[in-house]
Amino acid sequence: MAVKYVPEPFRIKVVEPLRMLTREEREKRIAAAHYNLFYLKSEDVYIDLLTDSGTNAMSQFQWAGVMQGDEAYAGASSYYKLIDAAKDIFGYGYIQPVHQGRAAEKVLLPLFLSEGKFAISNMFFDTTRAHVILSGARAIDCVVPEALDPSRRAPFKGNMDVEKLEKLIREHGPEKIGLVVMTITNNSAGGQPVSVRNVRETAAVCKKYGIPFDIDAARYAENAYFIQRDEPGYADKSIKEIVREVFSYADMFTMSAKKDTIVNMGGMIGVKDEKINEKLILEIKSRCIEFEGLYTYGGLAGRDLEALAIGLYEGLDDNYLRYRVGQMEYLAAKFDDAGVIYQSPVGGHGVFLDATAMFPHIPYTEYPAQALCVELYREAGIRCCDIGSYMLGNDPDTGKQLKADFEFSRLAIPRRVYTQAHLDVIVDAVIEVKKRASGIKHGLRIVWEPPILRHFQAHLEPIK
Ligand code: F0G
Repeated sequence: MAVKYVPEPFRIKVVEPLRMLTREEREKRIAAAHYNLFYLKSEDVYIDLLTDSGTNAMSQFQWAGVMQGDEAYAGASSYYKLIDAAKDIFGYGYIQPVHQGRAAEKVLLPLFLSEGKFAISNMFFDTTRAHVILSGARAIDCVVPEALDPSRRAPFKGNMDVEKLEKLIREHGPEKIGLVVMTITNNSAGGQPVSVRNVRETAAVCKKYGIPFDIDAARYAENAYFIQRDEPGYADKSIKEIVREVFSYADMFTMSAKKDTIVNMGGMIGVKDEKINEKLILEIKSRCIEFEGLYTYGGLAGRDLEALAIGLYEGLDDNYLRYRVGQMEYLAAKFDDAGVIYQSPVGGHGVFLDATAMFPHIPYTEYPAQALCVELYREAGIRCCDIGSYMLGNDPDTGKQLKADFEFSRLAIPRRVYTQAHLDVIVDAVIEVKKRASGIKHGLRIVWEPPILRHFQAHLEPIK
């Protein structure tokens, strides 16, 4: 199916030169990197799809804002500019800047979780899961079943399975559930959106059992775009109105601002109701001072706060979001034509290739998605990452390798960075690997790994 590329609603003023190594050089580099793409130097990568996080291109307005950053230790004007913007968009009473998403998790999650408790999410992102575990609690994923079948096209595949959520709460006892977390969009399931209706129903269950409801809000704007496009009753609402409504159902949010607010560094915590949460806000402030710095800068420079305040509004622009999701749709249509299976319909921040479909003969214990990432680097200098059993790691109680629901190789697309021709290089590389997929007999084995978040640091080798 021919999908027209949505033209960029901007032109390019600054360029970053790239170089393409030879196949032989790439082969050497990936071996020296222990077949772990996080160890590659970025100068050895031609198209970097490792993440859409902090890899965004800022606008001329944001760069101008950088020059206006107020670097005062306390009470900087850039801080107040950020707070005004965030309150205006999310409608929350208290906003705490932090340096990135996992800092928000580190500050907030232990205030609700401890040994013997559980946190339930539509799907935890890996750092969020890690912070649940570090606080002594256990993390449970509760996504709708259709998410688990990549070739099944259904809207809002990121949703919480609300019936199952209520069952889990009853099973464990509401007093044991410290937090319910809604990840929007659902990164680990493929950047899949969550509907307003699902957020509302999840909030109602939380309210019924007195459980705090948190939004993991990294990609709230892309999520709102899908709601506007696909959810009945929302076509005439603005992105800002939709964001407002979604956030109105939760009690708090943690956010990595390195995604939809189109900056290179930043994060936030939000608490909706200032009045009834005075104690919580005091605790957030003290923990922020301990880990991040004074609560008016939260680990960020004044220039970062300024760029973030501007990016919050740029990320809500309809033309930008149409172009942004348009890039994913362009890739997805090319993959459809070539019979490449991915989590469909395509999500908001990347294409999640189904490595099990590409390498049906490679078991999860040999990390097929990581193997596909390695092949794409070999093929065209593309760097992407495993969202599968390799990333999931071992059971914290038994130490045994867990089997992930998916084996995805994620092609995450940085915002406002790559052109249509770059996307064509990606498509050609995936098709080339598909052609020789049956000849790639084995995956990889881990020869060394750290105890938590291992995928960033593990050493692997090909199984011969
Ligand atoms: N929550 C979600 C849903 C995320 O996708 C991420 C980061 C975080 C929290 C943590 O935020 O990186 O700012 O500390 N995701 C990146 C990714 C790293 O590549 O998907 P952070």
